[in-house]
Amino acid sequence: MVLEILTFPSEVLRRKAAMIDSPTDKLNALIENMKETLYAANGFGLAAPQVGESIRLIVYDETAGREGQNPKIIINPEIVEESGEQIVEEGCLSIPGEYVPVKRYLRVLVKALDENFDPVIINAEGHTARIMQHEIDHLNGVLFIDRLPSFRRDTIKKHIKRRIANGEYKTAQ
Ligand code: NI
Repeated sequence: MVLEILTFPSEVLRRKAAMIDSPTDKLNALIENMKETLYAANGFGLAAPQVGESIRLIVYDETAGREGQNPKIIINPEIVEESGEQIVEEGCLSIPGEYVPVKRYLRVLVKALDENFDPVIINAEGHTARIMQHEIDHLNGVLFIDRLPSFRRDTIKKHIKRRIANGEYKTAQ
């Protein structure tokens, strides 16, 4: 089932998401629905808070399904090492239609659990490292606009307000 993706300024997107203790049928169902939702939206990554579940779960696919669907699941991820720098244009399914350059680490080492609750270590660089940082930010209530200089952030917020007033921006709470 394709889920509704909540958009800025939804309050759920600002909450710090809870750790996941154990596998459950409910969690597995959510994972399946998030995979469907990710591909339906042509996204690279989707964090559970974006579909209204404030838990530490991420589904991602570096190709957004363009080279065949290869969804990956990470649970309770944590960045344990980071280095380098990249500045690349970034967007977010929860802030549709806004794309701006965001400064990120070039490499991150992420510790997490996979779908089976087995520990995994992901040594990510470039595009994948960007997905990791963007999605883990979601678990901490942080959006990419928070990573911008304040004048840029204000410009985007004003632009979104104008789009909302014109009915051009979908506000899903
Ligand atoms: Ni996002």
